[in-house]
Amino acid sequence: MRKVIQNGVIVTAADTYEAEIIIEGGKIVAIGTNLATSSDEVIDAKGCYVFPGAIDPHTHLDMPFGGTVTKDDFESGTIAAAFGGTTTVIDFCLTQKGKPIQDAIETWHAKSKDKAVIDYSFHLMISEINEDVLAQLPVVIDNEGITSFKVFMAYKNVFQADDETLFRTLITARELGALVMVHAENGDVIDYLTKKALADGNTDPIYHALTRPPEIEGEATGRAAQLTGLANSQLYVVHVSCGDAVEKIAEARNKGFDVWGETCPQYLVLDQTYLEKPNFEGAKYVWSPPLREKHHQELLWNALRNGQLQTLGSDQCSFDFNGQKDLGRGDFTKIPNGGPTIEDRVSILFSEGVKKGRITLNQFVDITSTRISKLFGLFPHKGTIAVGADADIVIFDPNIERVISASTHHLAVDYSAFEGMKVTGEPVSVLSRGEFVVKDKQFVGKPGRGHYIKRAKYGELRGDQDQLEELSY
Ligand code: URP
Ligand code: ZN
Ligand code: ZN
Repeated sequence: MRKVIQNGVIVTAADTYEAEIIIEGGKIVAIGTNLATSSDEVIDAKGCYVFPGAIDPHTHLDMPFGGTVTKDDFESGTIAAAFGGTTTVIDFCLTQKGKPIQDAIETWHAKSKDKAVIDYSFHLMISEINEDVLAQLPVVIDNEGITSFKVFMAYKNVFQADDETLFRTLITARELGALVMVHAENGDVIDYLTKKALADGNTDPIYHALTRPPEIEGEATGRAAQLTGLANSQLYVVHVSCGDAVEKIAEARNKGFDVWGETCPQYLVLDQTYLEKPNFEGAKYVWSPPLREKHHQELLWNALRNGQLQTLGSDQCSFDFNGQKDLGRGDFTKIPNGGPTIEDRVSILFSEGVKKGRITLNQFVDITSTRISKLFGLFPHKGTIAVGADADIVIFDPNIERVISASTHHLAVDYSAFEGMKVTGEPVSVLSRGEFVVKDKQFVGKPGRGHYIKRAKYGELRGDQDQLEELSY
């Protein structure tokens, strides 16, 4: 049966207008006026915006980290994502030195295939570059449609890669058509500062922030950007938290380098003082990079508005306060890094960004969906409302007021990073390939219904049909 969305205001990265949307076979088949027939299922979007489903380019679901595993997996994580208006996630597939890349990818397929309620794809972590890895990467791109590689410049002795690895990844990515993502912090300097802090008896969560100052993020961001220019390659800096890193991205872009930047909701609305909360509660707010002093927030908002930063990822990476975050009592270096953000990413950007006049409605769609789709080889099938696109659609009431709380969120984790925060605007219904996943704020999806998406190469639209295949593993 066809579905028709009526009475809503369609918002894309470019336009805002009233029209009907006809959905058939999981796709948008028509947009216009007076298109509905009496046999169509009518979805009334009166008073609501109709957005393309948001895309989260940065999640860690069911990921081992810091001696434990993230609390939210592909089931609870994607259910929460859907409630928040996200219809596609791209998760980081971790690799290990000396182990076949395909094994890591199979592990990630096994984690996700019966669980995801929305569509998903993977980025590939590069832990080393050698002849063996170089031989595997074209296969990863062609067979798996994984067209983005992640290099960690921090987490010494865990994930950190050296500059040669980063540089060779950049060169390889240029040759193969992939986008290189970096976690940009100087891991060696952090290692020195954390050892010194512990030796001085400074063990509380706040020292996580004090041993990773913004200069360390700025330095690594600038280094990655310079290497990108030298390699004539392409770079996406994940989780930008501070003005120091924004400056380096802007500088690189001014030189004509192909460098992009993502920030996350936590850096826009939380600050370093949260790490000082008593009774070890500061551990709930331990991210890398850390939350910054408050004045950085306005710098990030300005960068989103003026295009120096282009996307918002969640960096969803949740650990229970009780039993996981508290592994770091008495030693802040043992607090698992990360927090729950997947569900509120879109609402926070809408409420704090659009409602407060910091960004426009069309910028909001670009930042949460369209630009991400284009950068990561999903466009035009995802990331816009257009004839031929997947019917990944969010019906969003811009006036609902809500207080964020762990008591009402849909994640499995035992706290909310945004507890008590008031937001205006909420998804009411969410469709994925034309099927309701959330209908009138009730979950109606099914674990395992999400498709694994093969993505196009960097710079290519997903118009290239053999890159469009959606695999059911
Ligand atoms: O603290 C964070 N960001 N945890 C997730 C892993 C990462 O660095 O993105
Ligand atoms: Zn990171
Ligand atoms: Zn991350």
